[in-house]
Amino acid sequence: MDNYNIAIDGPAGAGKSTIAKRVAKKLEYIYVDTGAMYRAMALFMLRQEIFAEDEGKISKACNQAEITIEYIDGEQQVILNGENVTGQIRTEEVGKMASAVAKCNAVRTKMVQLQKNLAATSNVIMDGRDIGTVVLPDADLKVYLTASSKERALRRWKELENKGISSDRSEIEADIVKRDFQDMNRENSPLRQAEDAVLVDSSNLTIDEVVDKIILLFKEKCSGELG
Ligand code: C5P
Repeated sequence: MDNYNIAIDGPAGAGKSTIAKRVAKKLEYIYVDTGAMYRAMALFMLRQEIFAEDEGKISKACNQAEITIEYIDGEQQVILNGENVTGQIRTEEVGKMASAVAKCNAVRTKMVQLQKNLAATSNVIMDGRDIGTVVLPDADLKVYLTASSKERALRRWKELENKGISSDRSEIEADIVKRDFQDMNRENSPLRQAEDAVLVDSSNLTIDEVVDKIILLFKEKCSGELG
């Protein structure tokens, strides 16, 4: 029996993981957060005190980082060389480093293979930057989820406020714009909307509205096949 795959791509802070997690729960699919894998690789490089600009060292060192994922109570856990690093990869520092290591061909080859293997064995909804274009080019549904940089910065600012961390909204927006530029203009698998992806702009939509829209799109695409 073939597996069903849903690909969600889009820029940082568009709500991909929140949305994908909820869709996965509703469909009883496995959610694969590929950004977390690049983040784990970034953490490894930071621990080795390798600079973001040092592509040569990143290429070499990535062979020493074994990254796998496991699920505990349905939640994805990222394992770096046997250590569960899930709680350590959500910082701005790791996010910026992830965008730098993600430019490296050796890193991408490793991650893409792991992601393809996961999708080959289960029904998955996977989010990232190159899922519809490179990892799952034959996905049953591809969504390009975006929102304005202003809205994305506001969401991130609110998230930090809720954690009691005060921050500067315009600085957050500048970081987001910089990361978008880096992800969209790199040589290897740049972030772009796949030709057959559906564009969803979440700027003026609630989380539930986006989730419902994606499930509807999926059901329409696979009508007749799904039970
Ligand atoms: O989505 P998240 O912010 O966790 O991703 C961190 C970084 O990892 C992104 O800015 C991007 O550079 C990289 N990434 C990627 N390809 C993916 C997922 C993430 O290049 N499929």
